[in-house]
Amino acid sequence: MLIINNRKDLQKWRLEQDNKTVGFVPTMGYLHEGHMSLVKSAKKSTELVVVSIFVNPLQFGANEDLNNYPKNLENDITICKSHGVDVIFTPNTNEIYSNGYPPKTKVNVELLGNHLCGAKRNGHFDGVCTVVTKLFNLVKPHKAFFGQKDIQQLRIIETMVKELNMPIDIIPCPTQRTHDGLALSSRNSYLSVAEERSALIVPKVLNHLVSLIKKGETDTNTLITDGISLISKTPNAKADYLEIVDYNTLQPVHTINGKIIIATAVFIGNTRLIDNIIWSD
Ligand code: PAJ
Repeated sequence: MLIINNRKDLQKWRLEQDNKTVGFVPTMGYLHEGHMSLVKSAKKSTELVVVSIFVNPLQFGANEDLNNYPKNLENDITICKSHGVDVIFTPNTNEIYSNGYPPKTKVNVELLGNHLCGAKRNGHFDGVCTVVTKLFNLVKPHKAFFGQKDIQQLRIIETMVKELNMPIDIIPCPTQRTHDGLALSSRNSYLSVAEERSALIVPKVLNHLVSLIKKGETDTNTLITDGISLISKTPNAKADYLEIVDYNTLQPVHTINGKIIIATAVFIGNTRLIDNIIWSD
């Protein structure tokens, strides 16, 4: 496995692999089985797999956890090696934003970014799309793998690739969870033992709403009110949002109809966790 930390070496390596298919898994590191499910999917469908590890400052807001974001490069390297990754690309900020920070050019996300996390994290998805575009231009993958855990990010990247004519297949990968149902996340490492218990409300509330839909509830206001009330009764938990949106447009729907996403962000103490369920009737 190669560990590359600069653009020149990555581009040189990429030119040498011209006849091979390349799969790409962009990450911010502190890798867990959720990330590795993307690697496993990449290993099955491309000859070479590149994982990037870069905590992208452009997607963090002023009061967010950029400076505390968990890191363990040594462990990330061990995990990637054991999963047969071919290249880890681990650049620093100067290497990615080599023409100065903040960059003078950004990818701007329109409608798909105005609800869910986009409404709460100003500029977040512009930051994500800008860095993903930069990474795509360096790695030049045939396929790139993204988790449904970050469903809005996945839908926005799929749309960006289509609208900007990027010749890359975006492969969605299902959310990986603990046996209790909590979605794996690097941010789970912030949780105390008591908070870990409280965090189980996140998958519970999503499953509860699905069970109400299965029983025939179609009014999304009723569902959301019920869900928010469940979250507010949980110690340490505070809903940042709970929304039900159309799968394609990511705009809120009033009644359950067709393919929808139930998505939530919940503060457990100071830790913001996100999760979602895709539902179609
Ligand atoms: P990060 O949070 O490290 O996630 C990297 C990839 O792993 C994303 O596609 C995410 O959806 C996926 N992932 C995380 N937890 C998962 C889980 N429990 N199950 C399945 N997939 C999971 O997302 C980012 O980094 C960044 O925004 C990035 C795309 C790298 C741009 O900076």
